[in-house]
Amino acid sequence: RPHIVTCTAPVNIAVVKYWGKRDEDLILPISSSLSVTLHQDQLKTTTTVAISTSFKVDRMWLNGKEEDITHPRLQSCLREIRRLARKRRNDGEPDSTESTGLSHKVHICSVNNFPTAAGLASSAAGFACLVYSLAQAFGVEGDLSGIARQGSGSACRSMYGGFVQWIMGNRDDGKDSIAQQVEPESHWPELRILVLVASAKRKPIGSTSGMQTSVQTSVLLKHRAESVVPHRMDKMIKAVQKRDFAAFAEITMKDSNQFHATCLDTYPPIFYLNSVSQQIIHLVHRYNGHYRESRVAYSFDAGPNAVIFTLQQHVPEFVRVVQHFFPPDTNGEDFIKGLPVKGAAISEELKEAIGLEPT
Ligand code: DP6
Repeated sequence: RPHIVTCTAPVNIAVVKYWGKRDEDLILPISSSLSVTLHQDQLKTTTTVAISTSFKVDRMWLNGKEEDITHPRLQSCLREIRRLARKRRNDGEPDSTESTGLSHKVHICSVNNFPTAAGLASSAAGFACLVYSLAQAFGVEGDLSGIARQGSGSACRSMYGGFVQWIMGNRDDGKDSIAQQVEPESHWPELRILVLVASAKRKPIGSTSGMQTSVQTSVLLKHRAESVVPHRMDKMIKAVQKRDFAAFAEITMKDSNQFHATCLDTYPPIFYLNSVSQQIIHLVHRYNGHYRESRVAYSFDAGPNAVIFTLQQHVPEFVRVVQHFFPPDTNGEDFIKGLPVKGAAISEELKEAIGLEPT
């Protein structure tokens, strides 16, 4: 009889971005990063793992389609979990599930509730969920972020909720390159995240190959990793600890902008933002400028979709602003993911302050 577990893992959004590796196989970064993990019920991956001695081979399905199980990153995660399971058995811990035997093969079934590879950090939730479910099925415990990291760098941060840093570490074996919770989600309950879907298409250049070219060609990325990120990590941790939204917003936007600047500094250059992304950037700065305070921040990963950070009290008005300038039928569907469309109006003064033409 197979032993079956189902787990979910949410997406995380980096506010100090990870871009660039110093080791491609172990997935070790050239700088630390910091992210906010979304709620379990928002953008997430759900994975079911079945392990059984009657399965002949390991198999994996992603959104209903069978995937190649020999993918090296998938193999790294499976190998590491099995290694821990073997170690646990050799250490003589009671084996309640009888599932740590090496003769067990796994069947993995994973689904996302959002577009895969659209730059919405699907690989982060995917590998975090895979590693967590495998660990549950094989009965292994402890910090699993070092294993999730070997699936996809950003995945190590989805192993924890709330505000999470991925400490780059400096060992060659990667043992000190792990994720740590900075503060739990309950620390800042007013913080809200909105996703503005500018395009759900697959990104033209994946993060893995994109950052590889950046490491090889961008002097700006080298400067960023050595001289900008360490300082920004300290400032961001303090902003989070103090719940200082203005500081949080400024670092978040500057870091997103610098990440996209390193993409442009890559040769040949990489463009992830589109004209809608640029309009969102203008809209946010004009909105904040109108109120003379940072009420809203944007962040973009390896794709054109905007992630908006704001505080609960500003959500209704900002949503109306976005809906005014980007009516719901712009993309044939709601621009703002997961929010009901309301036709409420915004003030003429605010419309003028932002001054974009509605699309
Ligand atoms: C722009 O974690 O997807 O989202 O380690 O090669 O799998 P690999 O890359 P990945 O890169 C994420 C890049 C980013 C920034 C971030 O999430 O920190």
